[in-house]
Amino acid sequence: MPVNDEFLYNLRNANPIETVMGSYVNLIRRGRNYVCSCPFHSEKTPSCTIFTDTQNFYCFGCGAGGDVITFTMKIENLTFSEAVKLLAQRCGMEVPAFGSNNDSGYAKRKTRIYEMNRIAANYFYTNLIKGPDKTGLQYFANRKLTPQTIKKYGLGYASDSWNALTDVLRSKGYSDDEMADAWLAGMKNGRTFDMFRKRVMFPIIDLRGNIIGFGGRVLDDSQPKYLNTGKTPVFDKGSNLFSMNFAKNSNAKRLILCEGYMDVIAVNQAGFENVVATLGTAITPDQARLISHYAEEVVVAYDSDGAGQKATQKAINHFADVGLRTKIIHMEGAKDPDEFIKKFGRDRFRMLLDGSNDANDFMLDKCETGLDLSTEIGRVELLKRTAKVLAGIESPLEREVYISRTSKKCDIPVQVLKAHIDSMLQKNSRNAQKTEWRNIKAKTSYIRDDINPDAVSNKKEARAEETIISYLLNRPQEYEDIEKLAPPQSFVTAFNKKVYTALLERLKNSDKFSISLLSDEFSTDEMGRISGMAAKKRNVDITRDVVADCAQVLKNTRPAANGDLSNDDLLELFRSKNK
Ligand code: UTP
Ligand code: MN
Repeated sequence: MPVNDEFLYNLRNANPIETVMGSYVNLIRRGRNYVCSCPFHSEKTPSCTIFTDTQNFYCFGCGAGGDVITFTMKIENLTFSEAVKLLAQRCGMEVPAFGSNNDSGYAKRKTRIYEMNRIAANYFYTNLIKGPDKTGLQYFANRKLTPQTIKKYGLGYASDSWNALTDVLRSKGYSDDEMADAWLAGMKNGRTFDMFRKRVMFPIIDLRGNIIGFGGRVLDDSQPKYLNTGKTPVFDKGSNLFSMNFAKNSNAKRLILCEGYMDVIAVNQAGFENVVATLGTAITPDQARLISHYAEEVVVAYDSDGAGQKATQKAINHFADVGLRTKIIHMEGAKDPDEFIKKFGRDRFRMLLDGSNDANDFMLDKCETGLDLSTEIGRVELLKRTAKVLAGIESPLEREVYISRTSKKCDIPVQVLKAHIDSMLQKNSRNAQKTEWRNIKAKTSYIRDDINPDAVSNKKEARAEETIISYLLNRPQEYEDIEKLAPPQSFVTAFNKKVYTALLERLKNSDKFSISLLSDEFSTDEMGRISGMAAKKRNVDITRDVVADCAQVLKNTRPAANGDLSNDDLLELFRSKNK
């Protein structure tokens, strides 16, 4: 099955963008179209629009956009051909065989890393179970992991050796550079050595079942306690979650978030499939968003020490940003979920989950730290801190409940407190609107433009070009006239010229046009820009006259004096000089 325009046309038809996007985010119908909270940046008011007629999406907040293939590439972090394969699988179409030159060098690099990781994981696992050195297995046994759990998570052991894994990989045809690329080997003074040594190993698996990296724990008190895979083409610790591959299938409306690998495994072994952890860092907005795709509520089960509590506070904010209900577990008598379950058992842990405090309770409790509530100064300070938290509560009903509770605690009339908070809320919402606008403006103001750098010094021309492209995108059938009116040679900025040329070219060669046809040629960011051109001008009726005006703007542009001038350009210049 060749991947030609016809195949892509059928693929797109079989995968309506609203269906595919709807499986990642909640869509709200707006006439023929849909809006949703953008899956690519944090926002509370939905600014991402799905246009069903053109089968495109565009986020007015962050500029992400494109067709169903671009969307899949971006959200799953895939190359073009990987996304096409995934979508073909999704709708039961024959999965195309991509020729080896269909994938860029980057995609090949990724494939090689996945392969090496799989080999490494197999090696670590076999070494743990069957290897002569039993210290790894002993370690897990001491921590009360069952053989089933070890198998389920594919846990392993990296021996006390500088070359055990690198030898295996080399024998299978992987070069030293490739091993280093996968972060499985280090290099020093021309020598290649195993990166993970004398550690128990935790493979990190993505949502599609690829092994993307590892965490390795020492068996004693040496440092660092955990060594984690660094950034590679397939691994970024800030956008993946440990055990999400299991949690996503649990169908639970709630996910439990722990701090560490061992906590997740202990909680999972105790019968809770819906548990995940970050990968050695504080939770990022990306991870919060990922969780929000799979759950409505998150229960934070961080360590009960100071660091864990600080991290909890930060996590709450990220979850609020993506509209997740957040609850906090408070563990008495144990430092983390792993220890809690060992000490008190799974039933007590379940009770803990069910009785977990609301994030607001947690934040309000924190307000009291260090204050003496028997003094007036203490109560005023408490009021100030509390008001801030209360103003941050999204649901008005919930806010009421907490306001009345606080008014009792601080001993002030509920009406006074309410008025104070209302005024804070107004100010907050004005500020939020301002920031959102500022962001949108910064994205569209050509102050700096990574995609089309020429636009910065050719603002007028870039705008004219985008209007022409937008007209063409919305009325592809008129391409012949438009090309005559505004020939591609007249385009000034390189990116727009490339888009316009590619568009015309595709239109000439295909009767089934859609923006999708460009997605194998342009990056996801570039596709976003192209979709933006179509989306922004959709509701403005651009007429032929407007296009003619734009074409004139381009014609009037003087080519830069030291640039390469074509004959036509020279003639133009000559004529204008002699006017
Ligand atoms: P913890 O020290 O709480 O580890 O760190 P843990 O997972 O509970 O492991 P045990 O029970 O002590 O064996 C929490 C998480 O922080 C990251 C790891 O992801 C760990 O699971 N971390 C910790 C590191 O990445 N590097 C470190 O050196 C320490
Ligand atoms: Mn621990």
